[in-house]
Amino acid sequence: MRTRHPHRAPPDVRFSEPGSPLLAVENLEVRYGGIRALKGISLHVCRGEVVALIGSNGAGKTTTLRTLVRLVQPAAGTLRYAGEELTTIGTEQVIERGVSLVPEGRAIFPNLTVRENLELGAFLHRDKTTIAESLHDVEQLFPRLGERMAQEGGTLSGGEQQMLAIGRAMMGRPSLLLLDEPSLGIAPKLARQIFEAIRAIAAAGVTVLVVEQNTRLALEVASRGYVLRTGEIAREGSSKELLADPMVREAYLGA
Ligand SMILES: Nc1ncnc2c1ncn2[C@@H]1O[C@H](COP(=O)(O)OP(=O)(O)O)[C@@H](O)[C@H]1O
Ligand SMILES: [Mg+2]
Repeated sequence: MRTRHPHRAPPDVRFSEPGSPLLAVENLEVRYGGIRALKGISLHVCRGEVVALIGSNGAGKTTTLRTLVRLVQPAAGTLRYAGEELTTIGTEQVIERGVSLVPEGRAIFPNLTVRENLELGAFLHRDKTTIAESLHDVEQLFPRLGERMAQEGGTLSGGEQQMLAIGRAMMGRPSLLLLDEPSLGIAPKLARQIFEAIRAIAAAGVTVLVVEQNTRLALEVASRGYVLRTGEIAREGSSKELLADPMVREAYLGA
């Protein structure tokens, strides 16, 4: 897969080296009325990494991703992406800078064809050559979508719809891909294929932050992870460390 971004100006050099932080969240706090959904969390994702954010229902995972793309307003904290403070810009500008969110529950257009759904993801790229290249890349990534281009999105299986949602995000040629529970409600075989695709996306140079309740699957693909528990980071470490951690094993791996 190609990952050229000819339209994008190079970001701040300190943030453009491999291994440097692309995303840095510090002391992020989010409130919904009286509820503190995030109680001052800090995390970072380096360029080229796959990082997992794991935790049970209600831990604050979706809130974290929605705050990053400026759909939720933080009460406190800083969000830096490629050296820029995200709280000073809006959702559209965050997307223009190369951040793409695949939301929980997928949200594809059921009455549009697979091809039309994918083309909608390319709204930042009007030239036909780039769109054709991106479509080709997505077909390589998900051959099942390639076989179903003319089919309506709503007729796809849950797993195929998740592939479509990820494919649509990839049509925007993001630098940072945010995924909200890509394996939720999906047959294990397709969930595995989706995580293999995430691995391929990362290998092509896209940085990934993936939220999951399927801890094992997420940590098999991610190199590092954070455990979010009721709005706080309870653990962080390499995937290997987390998979061996007694608390993680008991609470999240059913050991
Ligand atoms: N729009 C909202 N209004 C009020 N409370 C919310 C809203 N969204 C989420 N919450 C609450 O914030 C907490 C974190 O939710 P969420 O980020 O969706 O968790 P997760 O994605 O880890 O399941 C939960 O207690 C949830 O009920
Ligand atoms: Mg959620």
